[in-house]
Amino acid sequence: MNKHVQTLKDGTDFEKKHVPMIECKDEVAVNELYEVKVHSAGVDHPMEDGHFIQYIELRIGDLTVYRGSMTQYVKPELTVTLKAPSEGHEGLKMKLKAFMFCNLHGLWTYEKEIAIKK
Ligand SMILES: [Fe+2]
Repeated sequence: MNKHVQTLKDGTDFEKKHVPMIECKDEVAVNELYEVKVHSAGVDHPMEDGHFIQYIELRIGDLTVYRGSMTQYVKPELTVTLKAPSEGHEGLKMKLKAFMFCNLHGLWTYEKEIAIKK
């Protein structure tokens, strides 16, 4: 991982404001539509002139599947409906990665693994 990308290490409020937590099921069926929510890890990030979240991005592995641009007038969270992979992917695992970019404090990330049912 790029050393400039930060994640939850010490559990401070500063980290909890910036780390994009991923909320979704742990297991999905092939072709299933499933909802993924991304929001800060327990402490709201300020959204004000000069200090705000500029985007939240969601990737599966290295593929960007969604990116939401923001300004200080937006609550920094996303809810996206994704489609699970097709037949032939049963039993595999996907790595879901969220990125949240603060204009002052840089890029933060979090990962969650989802299994594809057999
Ligand atoms: Fe910040």
